[in-house]
Amino acid sequence: MTDHIIVEQPSAHPGVQLIRFNRPEKKNAFTRAMYRTMTEALNAANANANIRVTVFLGTEGSFSAGNDIGDFLAVAMGGGMGEELIDFLYALVRAEKPLVSGVDGLAIGIGTTLNLHCDLTIASDRSQFRTPFVDLALVPEAASSLIGPRVMGHQRAFAMFAAGEAFSAEDAREAGLVWKVTTPEEVERQALAAAAKLAAKPPEALRIARDLIRGPREEIIARIDEEARHFSARLKSAEARAAFEAFMRR
Ligand code: COA
Repeated sequence: MTDHIIVEQPSAHPGVQLIRFNRPEKKNAFTRAMYRTMTEALNAANANANIRVTVFLGTEGSFSAGNDIGDFLAVAMGGGMGEELIDFLYALVRAEKPLVSGVDGLAIGIGTTLNLHCDLTIASDRSQFRTPFVDLALVPEAASSLIGPRVMGHQRAFAMFAAGEAFSAEDAREAGLVWKVTTPEEVERQALAAAAKLAAKPPEALRIARDLIRGPREEIIARIDEEARHFSARLKSAEARAAFEAFMRR
């Protein structure tokens, strides 16, 4: 079986841990096993002085198409949700070192919201950010209902996280979700270079600066929990099941 998540510490970029989404045949949709591997990598970074920054990258044209809808359908049909997704969200919030993302192409659902937890996001000009939560009869997750309006203001956060409007890379940059827009050829190099630059800084000062800028973790965790209660209930609703079945039938 191929590794759907590849975790490495590239020798060309000391201090950088790379988490690569590698399920291109499914546009890097995240399965429970993928969340588990990513959580382990984030937690390992906290405990490893040799890792100073973590970078998320996808594959050509796909950052991530979001949660695997087959997994959502399994829950809608009566299966358990598992702890993998929520554990990953907690690990994102509890990450003690900077997170950088390089987005090329599709960034859907958690493929968009995970960038709210990143400190620097570089996106290619062909990227598209979209969270069709309500269209799938779901609600926002990953504390996007809290961090989204803070970053973007109410109107743009509503357009993105409730109305499910697609944002181009430039829209996302203007909204404050993305730091820089570049070409598809450049995005990985720039994300890794930004990470390497951070990795060379005094780590303790960087950690404190980041904590001050991000604010208290507890309120983000509390919002994740509140969203998750609604999300789990919505997953089992008839309208969500119909939406997942429609996607799987296409
Ligand atoms: N879950 C499961 N499978 C997914 C997926 C997802 N979130 N996103 C894409 N895939 C699969 C498709 O089913 C397809 O599989 P197949 O080749 O076995 O049929 C494969 O990935 C390629 O996707 P496809 O839809 O053919 O590519 P596209 O370029 O036409 O469209 C998307 C790409 C991402 C726009 C479209 O796949 C999509 O809307 N996906 C769902 C996104 C979503 O709603 N995510 C959840 C957010 S909460």
